Amino acid sequence: MTGQIDVSLILPTRNEAGNISEAIRLAGEALADISFEIIVVDDDSPDGTADLVRRIAAEDRHVRLIQRVGRRGLASACIEGALAASGRVVAVMDADLQHDERILPDLVRPVLSGEADLSVGTRYSEGGGTDGWSDVRQSQSAFATKLASRFMKADLSDPMSGFFAMSADHFRSLIPSLSGRGFKILLDIVFSSKEPLRLHEVPFTFRGREVGESKLDAPTALQFLMMLYDRALGHIIPARFALFAVVGGLGVLVHMAMLMLVFQGFGASFLIGQTVAVLAAMTFNFFLNNLLTFHDVRLKGWALVKGWCSFCLICGLGAIANVGVASYLFSQTGVMWTVSALAGILVGAVWNFVMSSRFTWGRL
Ligand code: GDD
Ligand code: MN
Repeated sequence: MTGQIDVSLILPTRNEAGNISEAIRLAGEALADISFEIIVVDDDSPDGTADLVRRIAAEDRHVRLIQRVGRRGLASACIEGALAASGRVVAVMDADLQHDERILPDLVRPVLSGEADLSVGTRYSEGGGTDGWSDVRQSQSAFATKLASRFMKADLSDPMSGFFAMSADHFRSLIPSLSGRGFKILLDIVFSSKEPLRLHEVPFTFRGREVGESKLDAPTALQFLMMLYDRALGHIIPARFALFAVVGGLGVLVHMAMLMLVFQGFGASFLIGQTVAVLAAMTFNFFLNNLLTFHDVRLKGWALVKGWCSFCLICGLGAIANVGVASYLFSQTGVMWTVSALAGILVGAVWNFVMSSRFTWGRL
């Protein structure tokens, strides 16, 4: 390979050993008339995708591998691929053969020529479609697309698409402002660009998946909602904190239910009832936060036990801060009891959030 590379094609993979060789071969065929490189970004797939790609790369100079250990996520994989790209244009395509690689030249050409800033493969315009999708999957996708469009200034028929091309410099200039969370890198890009992007769309038919399975699950859908929330209200109350607060609210219900059971039901003393209820609520909050609020950095195995201990400790201190602030306001400044209590709760919640983000889940 000599001279300038026009296109860097990024193929993110997670357990695509059954698809990646074919995906690389077909993409290479499609891009035969363009100078290109293929960068596979694999998140340490247990099925050996990375080793397979390494073997391909040893024989084919077009192909490179980035293997990430201990990091996960489709959006962040695309970002790391773009950071390593040496082509003028970055294209992103699924590695599971669901995206029709034959449109690649049409996708990248307008970006290469400077006519478009962003070129998107779309299922939802004349000539595009989805193959063999269930009614449920179709209506889920339609709903998400509608929802996303409401938050978006750009006029894209398929904002959820993961098949697109963009100038590499432009892409990289946006990276600092991307959330990098979840599945929807294209949406993230459109949200983050300050100036309106000149768009181009290429219709294609989204194929059914033959080998392996989709990684889109309920938590990724939640991350998508969190991203939309972040864009709408995130500058006022960050999504993570909002979710943390909702989980905390549910914890209050768990607390009351447990108190009722132990104190009223079993006739234990109030002290014992309240203690058991606090522990139950903290445990419930810890696991739910681990599942939802901190899904992207969730703890497993031993780390879960350690995390639970640190969470209980932090919430214990949070309760002391809560009571301290509330009683100070109430007794020293004469603020109404309800307001004092709410101020205490707010201080406790912020403390719990900030400290557990930092120490329990290692964020911030
Ligand atoms: N590196 C990496 N890390 N790759 C991942 C990860 C991850 O955590 N999760 C998924 N991938 C890879 C898959 O291996 C596949 O090549 C591609 O990303 C798409 O993942 P799928 O799990 O097959 O997603 P899908 O088919 O449900 O979703 C597709 O359709 C959406 C539109 O409905 C994707 O193309 C999305 O990009 C697209 O938005
Ligand atoms: Mn897929």
